[in-house]
Parts: sequence; structure tokens; C-alpha cells
Amino acid sequence: MYKLLFRPLAVEDLPMLHAWILRPHVAEWWEEPSTMEEVRDEYLPIIEGRSSTRAYIASIKDQPIGFIQSYVVQGSGGGWWEDESDPGARGIDQFLVDETRLNQGLGTAMVAAFVERLFADPCVTKVQTDPSPNNRRAIRCYSKVGFKEVGEVVTPDGPAVLMLHERANHRSDHGGTRVAAELQAARGRT
Ligand SMILES: CC(C)(COP(=O)(O)OP(=O)(O)OC[C@H]1O[C@@H](n2cnc3c(N)ncnc32)[C@H](O)[C@@H]1OP(=O)(O)O)[C@@H](O)C(=O)NCCC(=O)NCCS
Repeated sequence: MYKLLFRPLAVEDLPMLHAWILRPHVAEWWEEPSTMEEVRDEYLPIIEGRSSTRAYIASIKDQPIGFIQSYVVQGSGGGWWEDESDPGARGIDQFLVDETRLNQGLGTAMVAAFVERLFADPCVTKVQTDPSPNNRRAIRCYSKVGFKEVGEVVTPDGPAVLMLHERANHRSDHGGTRVAAELQAARGRT
């Protein structure tokens, strides 16, 4: 069985992250940053601990397979999530790095494992994500993980589907089984 690991994003990863963000399958759905300078401006504060956002490279057998980040929803600033009053709410954003590995269960495994990790912190009450309404693949993936569609919202990046995974509906044994099953399926297809 493959093990999916998350390691914190490091300064040395930024050129690689920049190249991933420019890949068409990511750029289609990922908003700024797009230049290397913008990538540095956005991710250096995270790497240096000057932000509540935590960014990770997901890997299997030392091979990077995805990028994923979590943030504290309350007080996001910039017009984001101004109604959120729960300090335990976290948000996540993610992508797989290899276009040839889409639609094989890998994203479901990565997101499920990351949500599991977030809920290991007793302070975390719920996890949200906000795909574009047109990103049906992402919406389906997050539904498989256990996120429920709350409805369409308008964000500073445009319309999005707010999807929520509440601790009350989270079963860690189920999450673990899901990760194992999806990884097995993804392995079978490669
Ligand atoms: C979103 C992402 C992480 C999902 O990971 P993934 O490994 O491709 O997703 P999975 O294979 O686990 O699940 C995808 C599901 O969507 C379904 N799907 C694919 N295209 C679809 C479409 N146009 N409409 C409806 N469902 C679709 C797949 O059939 C699969 O469902 P199934 O297992 O029931 O058959 C990955 O596709 C990705 O990185 N995409 C590019 C960047 C991106 O969109 N990031 C998210 C921004 S919110």
C-alpha cells in the first residue's frame, strides 16, 4: 500500500510550485499568483510562519503528487468569508501536479487524508472548500470525501460553490478506509 505524505512547502520548492501553477490543467482553475515574483510574495510569508495559511507538498514514495493548503477562515481579509465567526473553521485549496493522473481517485485520497489530518486538531470544527461552479470534477471529488454543498457564493475571485465538511459528520475510520481504497484504485490505473 502506498503512503501519502505531506511535508511543509519550503523556499526551494517555489520554482517547482510556479511551474505547476502554470500547467494548463491547474491554471484553468487556480487564480493568482502567476509570475514567480507573485508566487514568492504569496508563499514566502506562509513558509516563514507569518500567515495562518499552511502549505504542503503531497507525495507518494518521494514523488510529489499534489499541492494543498489550509487556512483559518475567520479573518481571511481581502473580502473573503467576512461572515465567518467560528475560529475553528478551516479552508483548503489543492491541485494534483500531473494531468495524466486526474480522474483516478488520487485527489479524493489526497483531500481525505488532509481533512483527516486537520480534524486531528481538536480545535478544528469544520473544513470548507470553494470550487468554481464549473469545476464539476473538483465538486465530485470533494463530495466523495464527504463535503456537502452549502450553495453558491460570490467570492473576490468570482462565483464559487461553498462545500463544507463538519466534524460532526466526520468518521476517522471511514476516512482512513477511503484513503486506502482510493490509493489502491489509483495504483491499479497507473
Ligand atoms: C480537483 C482534483 C484535485 C480532483 O482530483 P482527481 O484525482 O482528479 O479526482 P478523483 O478522481 O478523486 O474524482 C473525480 C471525480 O469527478 C468525476 N468527474 C470528472 N470530470 C467530471 C465532470 N466534468 N463532471 C462530473 N464529474 C466529473 C470523475 O468521474 C470522478 O468521479 P467518480 O470517481 O465518481 O467517477 C484534480 O482533478 C485537480 O487537481 N484538478 C486541477 C486543478 C483543480 O481543479 N483544483 C481544484 C480547485 S478547487
